[in-house]
Amino acid sequence: MLHLTCIFCLSDLVKKFGVAQCDLVKKFGVAQCDLVKKFGVAQCDLVKKFGVAQHDLVKKFGVVQCDLVKRFEVAQRDLVKKFGVAQCDLIKKFGVAQCDLVKKFGVAQSGYNSASKNFNKADMEIDVTGRSYMITGANSGIGKCTALAIAQRGGTVHMVCRDPMRGEEARKEIEEKSGNKNIFLHLLDMSKPKDIFRFAQKFQSDGQQLDVLVNNAGCMVNKRELTEDGFEKNFATNTLGTHILTTALIPVLERSQSSPRVVIVTSGGMLVQKLDVKDLQFERMNPFDGTMAYAQNKRQQVIMTEQYAQKYPKVHISTMHPGWADTPAVRSSMPGFYEKMKDKLRTAEEGADTLIWLAISDAALKQPSGLFFQDRVPVSQHLPLAWTKATPQQHKDLMDKLDELSKPHMI
Ligand SMILES: NC(=O)c1ccc[n+]([C@@H]2O[C@H](COP(=O)([O-])OP(=O)(O)OC[C@H]3O[C@@H](n4cnc5c(N)ncnc54)[C@H](OP(=O)(O)O)[C@@H]3O)[C@@H](O)[C@H]2O)c1
Repeated sequence: MLHLTCIFCLSDLVKKFGVAQCDLVKKFGVAQCDLVKKFGVAQCDLVKKFGVAQHDLVKKFGVVQCDLVKRFEVAQRDLVKKFGVAQCDLIKKFGVAQCDLVKKFGVAQSGYNSASKNFNKADMEIDVTGRSYMITGANSGIGKCTALAIAQRGGTVHMVCRDPMRGEEARKEIEEKSGNKNIFLHLLDMSKPKDIFRFAQKFQSDGQQLDVLVNNAGCMVNKRELTEDGFEKNFATNTLGTHILTTALIPVLERSQSSPRVVIVTSGGMLVQKLDVKDLQFERMNPFDGTMAYAQNKRQQVIMTEQYAQKYPKVHISTMHPGWADTPAVRSSMPGFYEKMKDKLRTAEEGADTLIWLAISDAALKQPSGLFFQDRVPVSQHLPLAWTKATPQQHKDLMDKLDELSKPHMI
């Protein structure tokens, strides 16, 4: 009886799909018959291989790219198409964001060289004597270049560093090179919320002047490590530390008589991440991936910048990507990337250019507050595929969560 029913089924199919496709119908089953009809014989194996959900992709991208589609996921398919097979491994290794940047802006010095043709030299020919700048992570790389550039233009520099030896060595060097005596070293570990809050409170109660805060200190810790307060280390340093220092110093900045600013050094790596407020400590990231944790923090910094801009209209707030620059952080945290790219990276000075421009130039103030910059121009916070966009509610949730996590430490 069962056998007979099947024969009737099959004859209906034969009617529907024609004799030529009977074998396919048999092979792929009744459920996929419409697909067989839709995609044709040639693609049947693909349909089977890639599943129903990816049919349209199979159709759109063709057989050759199907494996890529599968390998790089749906969200990345346009990039795979855009960048071609040769860059796929790069995409996989370094993330989509970096590939787009490679293509669009150039990882390399050549990217800086072409972008800098449009720079207005006069923007940086500026005397900042009488203005006061605080720079975190000022003993090394981009932060040190920024501190030196400001010192050379007469500004008072408050260097915020965690290591007394490295900090003092850099302070001396900056003082000697610039001839500026107003270079001060403050010892602070940006992963320690209580210390950050106390430092900011003391800076305020001492009646210190602050016109510009540069949140530059950052880390990429490749193993999931916790701070003594129980925070995941990347999050504690890059996100929570930045939040506490910025919000605690806002009252000091708001007293400034000369266009107060905050600049946050993010990374183009953030372009691969969508805000995930539910896992700020990366407890659910399995296996833990330091590059992605860092990129998530850098995404958070971009959202924080936008939110601060709305909340603190008296202060001009920006975030920026340095381009890929040869610094100790890149060498130690991304050794593979560094090995491949070392001849093409920007110098730390070139990486610091937009940061310095945002911190000192009048031109930067003509741009609205809250934007993300590269090479002195505001750029999109998302790649053409908008899968990294979070909702306004999620943005608000992030800020609420940061306030909630900060609160017990603000004593
Ligand atoms: N270089 C690039 O291509 C690139 C690209 C995108 C974004 N960035 C960003 O640029 C910023 C500067 O990095 P860099 O490339 O110039 O690297 P870097 O030379 O290694 O500088 C990082 C600085 O941050 C400090 N730092 C790290 N953790 C800290 C903590 N817990 N407390 C206080 N200071 C801390 C480091 O101090 P120690 O010397 O004591 O370690 C150092 O001074 C970072 O935010 C980084 O994410 C860089």
